[in-house]
Amino acid sequence: ADALRVALAGLGTVGGGVIRLLDANRDLITRRAGRPIEVVAISARDRTRDRGIDLSRFAWVDDTSALAAQDDVDVVAEMIGGSDGPALTLARATLAAGRGFVTANKAMLAHHGLELAELAERGNAPLKFEAAVAGGIPVIKGLREGAAANAIGRVYGILNGTCNFILSKMEAEGRDFAEVLAEAQALGYAEADPTFDIDGIDAAHKLSILASIAFGTRPAFAAVQAQGIRHVLGADIAEAAALGHRVRLVGLAEAGPHGLFQRVHPHLVPFDHPLAHVTGSTNAVVAEGDHVGRLFFQGAGAGEGPTASAVVADLIDIARGVAGPPFAMPAALLAAPTAADSGER
Ligand code: NDP
Ligand code: HSE
Repeated sequence: ADALRVALAGLGTVGGGVIRLLDANRDLITRRAGRPIEVVAISARDRTRDRGIDLSRFAWVDDTSALAAQDDVDVVAEMIGGSDGPALTLARATLAAGRGFVTANKAMLAHHGLELAELAERGNAPLKFEAAVAGGIPVIKGLREGAAANAIGRVYGILNGTCNFILSKMEAEGRDFAEVLAEAQALGYAEADPTFDIDGIDAAHKLSILASIAFGTRPAFAAVQAQGIRHVLGADIAEAAALGHRVRLVGLAEAGPHGLFQRVHPHLVPFDHPLAHVTGSTNAVVAEGDHVGRLFFQGAGAGEGPTASAVVADLIDIARGVAGPPFAMPAALLAAPTAADSGER
């Protein structure tokens, strides 16, 4: 069968990981996808940077936005980041050209997800973003497909690997906030601007996407009340432990009588709750469905291998011809944010 021809935009932690994964598991991926997945073009900021990968076999494109117009490209995978700028320009151009688009970019989806879904549906182009929420955990697929027949009452969880890594290390090793943040950055977990992680913004981006999938509403990032872990002290963590609790940054979305309530904040989680045992860069998501009951998803929430795994899974879905709207249902049917959603509560 003809190969699925892919262009990669961004060759950092995630983009580099995608090339390494496609190389490492080529045969397995080809069999599961039903055809080869072939990288035909790549682009990033600095062509001369040594990425520890042989890139000479791919066509380098200086102007990242030009990937959208290449006739030999079926799908663009965007791993640049940023809610606007080059990632958004590329997303719009790729989908408008009727090509597939895979992204790990939760900031862009939180701000422009509805517009991109409309573009994708209009052009009959696949738009997929499993890597954008909870790294390697297939939680978008799990809720969108696996729990599709359920009304979800509540979805909540640990959505930022960097914060969970910091909180875990502060508690277990008594280490300093700034030092552990630097380690999370070195491991490739943190955002380019780590204030997005520690101020709860990244978790809020992900919560707004997750809530949209779970409740069939438009992503409503502006309505998420977000507070991060910047002010959590070692003494707070020790005091919580003495009271039988762990501090975790939790995102929660709940369907209530006044609409959808979305909030991210440091939470005291009792030791007997599964979220208290989610440590390091691991993420976990709990969803409560009216027929399936309580679902618990757990796995690596950040880093090269897990995130690349989610990006390549999306490419495999596209290669297989798996169809369906990008969000829970066609964009036109997603419920508008209510007064409560718009932060007026
Ligand atoms: P990195 O900073 O490691 O990589 C970003 C890549 O984008 C680099 O290759 C960089 O080029 C390229 N880039 C930056 N600006 C431009 C530009 N203006 N034009 C073209 N290319 C550009 O980021 P990550 O790989 O960590 O993250 C990528 C995306 O994945 C982000 O949206 C992030 O939120 C998301 N994500 C990350 C996860 C993680 O664990 N790291 C997990 C889940 C999602 P160069 O290398 O030349 O500087
Ligand atoms: N910076 C993010 C985190 C990457 O730490 O969770 C994964 O989305």
